[in-house]
Amino acid sequence: MQPEVSLGKNRTGLKASPLDAVELQDMHGYQLDVGRPPVTVEEFRASYMSEESVGSIPPPTSVKGMVGATAQALTGHRMHVLLDKIAERLAFERSGTRLYDAALLKIGQLDRLPEGMTMAALQEIRDEEAAHFRLLADTIERLGGDSTAMTPCADVTGVQGMGLLQAMNDPRTTLAQALDTLLAAELIDNASWELLIELAEGFGRDEIADGFRHALAAEQRHETLVRSWLAAELNNVSHVRH
Ligand SMILES: [Fe+2]
Repeated sequence: MQPEVSLGKNRTGLKASPLDAVELQDMHGYQLDVGRPPVTVEEFRASYMSEESVGSIPPPTSVKGMVGATAQALTGHRMHVLLDKIAERLAFERSGTRLYDAALLKIGQLDRLPEGMTMAALQEIRDEEAAHFRLLADTIERLGGDSTAMTPCADVTGVQGMGLLQAMNDPRTTLAQALDTLLAAELIDNASWELLIELAEGFGRDEIADGFRHALAAEQRHETLVRSWLAAELNNVSHVRH
């Protein structure tokens, strides 16, 4: 058994109630005659903009880290920006591993898989996400940082990933919706690894960029696979079964 998208009593669209629709559209142009409000919506929102960032990056924890940061500063590079972006990928790969763990649990219960998809291939992708997490943690430590620290970009990407995890863990989501969720993660992964490689190269850290290129090659494989599984599943659910 698995959830399927079907025709039902959905009443969210305007066309479900044409009379209310007319009234609602009339309201759209309706304005209270109370004069200009003391603050506009834009001003109100702007007042909530903070000069404070989500968090901060801890200073290097080792002599090596301090020497490295100083050497990079001499070349005009701000080491903490690179560390923050590496910590961001680390946080995303951790979320990615959990996302695939949830996918393995969910999809493992189904009685059929789309053509070309196997549980072994899904498990392999999960293990590669976990390996990327370890690669990034090692890289942060080698640069003299603390791989356990929650940096600002790591925090933000963790919040972004929460939506993906919620969609995957919702018991009502279908196989196609689960694969869509994995595809969203893989698309972010691919673009973000590419940008991180460029950043590391800009810092002259070719040895780091080389390791990251292997990770990018794996991510490209993931995207291709997940996309093909989703295409097969969409083909499946869009045809009448006899
Ligand atoms: Fe991936």
